[in-house]
Amino acid sequence: MKAYEKYLKEVLIDEAALQQRVRELGHQITQDYADCGDLLLVCILKGGIMFLVDLARHIDVPHEMDFLAVSSYGRGARSSTGSVRIDMDLSVQVEGRHLLIVEDIIDSGQTLRFVMDVLEARKPASLKLCTLLNKPQRRTVDIPIDYIGFDIEDKFVFGYGLDLDEKFRNLPFIAVVKPEMVYG
Ligand code: IMP
Ligand code: MG
Repeated sequence: MKAYEKYLKEVLIDEAALQQRVRELGHQITQDYADCGDLLLVCILKGGIMFLVDLARHIDVPHEMDFLAVSSYGRGARSSTGSVRIDMDLSVQVEGRHLLIVEDIIDSGQTLRFVMDVLEARKPASLKLCTLLNKPQRRTVDIPIDYIGFDIEDKFVFGYGLDLDEKFRNLPFIAVVKPEMVYG
């Protein structure tokens, strides 16, 4: 038995479905940014890393990548407190550039609201958001999302960048955790 299996209720999105959707998003982004000239993918760590790596392979316009690590105070897997902090900032200036945020999941929206406010203040030429997963039922703050991989129900998921107490980000699929196993 694999270590993750004791937490696994079901596989929600299997590897083939994930890869298919990531490919579609990459093609869409390629079309939308065809004439942009200066695209910077801003990956939100740690959760966005798997998605970024696969997505970028399907973005056929020259682009750069950079990384922003954020965390919520008062961590508990299930809830964002609303106070978010930057653990590692971008390594480049973004003023006048076209930014596309690459994130794993939008839940309450608090994390991304904070990130977008921080980036907007740096005066990019444009700022868009691409999230693999979206949990619309849990939203507490309004977030405009430009690209969504999958809308999902209000269930705690892990795998493909998303962690269960920092583990199992490496799984190639999105899994639903057994309710009794949710931390926090
Ligand atoms: P938000 O600020 O409530 O939108 O929360 C966003 C962050 O909470 C995400 O970037 C994840 O790190 C975490 N998160 C929210 N839902 C899940 C989930 O179902 N599984 C794993 N992490 C989650
Ligand atoms: Mg995250």
